[in-house]
Amino acid sequence: MKIGGERDLSVNFCGIHFMNPFIIASAPPATTGEMMGRAFEAGWAGAITKTLMVNAESLIVNVTPRLSSLSFPGPTNEPKKIYAFENIELVTDRSFSVWLKEIEELRKKYPKNVVIASIMDDASKPDGWQYMAKKCEEAGAQMIELNMSCPHGMPELGMGSAIGQNAELAATVTRWTSEVVKVPVMAKMTPNVTDVGLVAKSCEKAGVDAISAINTVAAIIGVDPETLVPKPNVAGYSAHGGLSGPAVKPIALKAVATIAKAVKVPISAIGGISSWEDAAEFLLLGASTLQVCSTVMAHGYGVIEDLLDGLQNYMEDKGFEAISDMVGLSLEKLVGQTELNREMRLISSVKEEACVKCDLCYVSCRDAGYQAIKLRDDRIPTIDKEKCTGCSLCQQVCPVWDCVVMKPQESVRA
Ligand SMILES: Cc1cc2nc3c(=O)[nH]c(=O)nc-3n(C[C@H](O)[C@H](O)[C@H](O)COP(=O)(O)O)c2cc1C
Repeated sequence: MKIGGERDLSVNFCGIHFMNPFIIASAPPATTGEMMGRAFEAGWAGAITKTLMVNAESLIVNVTPRLSSLSFPGPTNEPKKIYAFENIELVTDRSFSVWLKEIEELRKKYPKNVVIASIMDDASKPDGWQYMAKKCEEAGAQMIELNMSCPHGMPELGMGSAIGQNAELAATVTRWTSEVVKVPVMAKMTPNVTDVGLVAKSCEKAGVDAISAINTVAAIIGVDPETLVPKPNVAGYSAHGGLSGPAVKPIALKAVATIAKAVKVPISAIGGISSWEDAAEFLLLGASTLQVCSTVMAHGYGVIEDLLDGLQNYMEDKGFEAISDMVGLSLEKLVGQTELNREMRLISSVKEEACVKCDLCYVSCRDAGYQAIKLRDDRIPTIDKEKCTGCSLCQQVCPVWDCVVMKPQESVRA
């Protein structure tokens, strides 16, 4: 692939200039101002502080360990490739006043980058939300993100997703905050709701300037069958946490598309972005900026180079002059099930020369499909065109890329 295109990747998001759409999400890669500065130097356009709370240093006590992960292949095989983290980490445990100083310093040192403050309180405390928002604005934060979406630890205290799961509370917190600051306010959605579009719409009506989605997906990543303790094991016990990383991308894509159809304010997408392809997909479904956490946790700030190069090249290949040219282009292709074409018939066809004779297509079609695949004596599969219903299970399970292809029924028959 070509490296380094000419396209302008800058984005105007809520009236703020971002040199590219990539933002460090409110999470471990934004644990301190010093870290956010290093992210800017690596090429990230913006960064959102780990969620701030007043008196965090006395209220927030994190457990160890507070992460677990899922990886390909299984733990006993070759090198790990993480596709999901589960975390039971709380918001920042660092002092609010120290954070304010760091925001101020970041703004002075990195005037071209965007510093966003993430804040959290409970839904009974307008003063808390307003105090933090005003102080962060005074310190120089260019946007405020409302964390109404953390699914673990904080909801038990009436915070995080306890607010974002209730459209009225989400609107109330939005209103409290929006009315005391001039900088744009962004509400961060939880995916753990029946209709995220409804919550986003409620925040929009309350005056929010942007929606970010998603925070982590409430999850239990596993149980150790030896000790019987769910993961992560904290002195013999565990608690449910939040899932992130590539595994949650499909959930995030659906949430972003739903929100894009429900509101007019701009969207900042988060959830499993680990490649330029992921970035493009979120833009096409309606996001204008892109936040990343887990991929940076696994590979460091340097991943920004591949994200930028890949996106540039994609835009050049597709003829997009600016990021805004591609925002939401795929939304019109997302229709209701009943609107899908029921006339088109595809059936599978196997490229003999690519087949590795693993039998997987045969077995899955036999036991979970339509018994449309037979094996020749040399173990090459053949498709029974009358029995194949075109479900594509054989294509999905085939370990070889492009060995099974779906073709129009007529062209296969000819
Ligand atoms: C260890 C960890 C801590 C996090 N802490 C916060 C937080 O303090 N505030 C917040 O809004 N989101 C927090 N998040 C959620 C991320 O900002 C992000 O929404 C989520 O991880 C999905 O993005 P990803 O798939 O790129 O990781 C945290 C995520 C992880 C993994």
